[in-house]
Amino acid sequence: MKTLKSALLGAAALLPAAAHAGELNLICSADVVICEALVGAFEEGHPDIDVNMVRLSSGEAYAKVRAEARNPQTDLWWGGTGDPHLQAAHDGLSAEYSSPMLGELQDWARGQAETSDFHTVGVYSGALGWGYNTEILAGKGIDPPACWADLLDPALKGEIQIADPNSSGTAYTTLATLVQLMGEDEAFDFLRQMHANVSQYTKSGSAPVKAAARGETGLGIVFQHDAVSQAVAGFPIAVVAPCEGTGYEIGSMSLIDGALNEEEAKTFYDWVLTAEAQNLMPGAGSFQIPSNRAATPPAEAPDLSEIKLIDYDFAEFGSAERRKALLARWDREIGSLPLE
Ligand code: F6P
Repeated sequence: MKTLKSALLGAAALLPAAAHAGELNLICSADVVICEALVGAFEEGHPDIDVNMVRLSSGEAYAKVRAEARNPQTDLWWGGTGDPHLQAAHDGLSAEYSSPMLGELQDWARGQAETSDFHTVGVYSGALGWGYNTEILAGKGIDPPACWADLLDPALKGEIQIADPNSSGTAYTTLATLVQLMGEDEAFDFLRQMHANVSQYTKSGSAPVKAAARGETGLGIVFQHDAVSQAVAGFPIAVVAPCEGTGYEIGSMSLIDGALNEEEAKTFYDWVLTAEAQNLMPGAGSFQIPSNRAATPPAEAPDLSEIKLIDYDFAEFGSAERRKALLARWDREIGSLPLE
């Protein structure tokens, strides 16, 4: 005898399949809290699109997109530093797209699109620096470092964390910044000396200052906005813009070439460039400078006009040859050194 359930299931099988909801496979390379906030707000406004989001650091995201080149599983890559996005553009991994939102963006964000023949675009920016735990440094009688050169102070032995530039865009920006400030050989010499003070090379760029906030290390070399979020959350973190000058990121976004869900990806792409979407960032603890001119830069965001910024060469340091060569040299000369 048929049960009511089996009768209903049988009847359901005769009905036409429900219209397939739109899907979007998104890599998010900023902090997971803003990644989730953006996905939540987007899905609320676009109930017909389900977003599958994975959070990966910039270098890891590039590696995933590259590994999927013949069979793309990712539709859109939002956030993360611009260099690997430019490399993806160069490698033909991202698609050309001129969003109708381009006219609303800051020059630096549109410039990123122009540099890449519209294969990537700027979504936010922020300057590099570090955050230190004021209680740990005071407790150990260490003078707070104000300049890159101060990071070589032997008193900081075991107190510095920075990410691995292979996985992290923050750490690659640091490497490229030092090369531009000092010259390549001198930068590697500096990194070799600083290695004596490093306790760990983390996978994610912001992990070092989160560790400093929890009291696990004295100092994390990170984007200043990531140090600001820890200070705003109430941790004893002071934010430093290095005295010699520093680099910065143009956090970027790329539509993946051959995306299976291209229309959904373009819908998210255009939406996330609106002032409305970008204004969600500070509420999720993300204090970058937004790329839409009408979005409100967070009051807590470090003021880029007050920071000594280098003239960061995004085209050169985002080029496939330069990035590959610098990472290979870092692996040989720094990553292979034992941690004490
Ligand atoms: O935490 C946010 C952030 O610093 C972004 O501004 C940046 O693009 C990204 O993280 C870099 O992360 P990672 O260094 O892990 O690639």
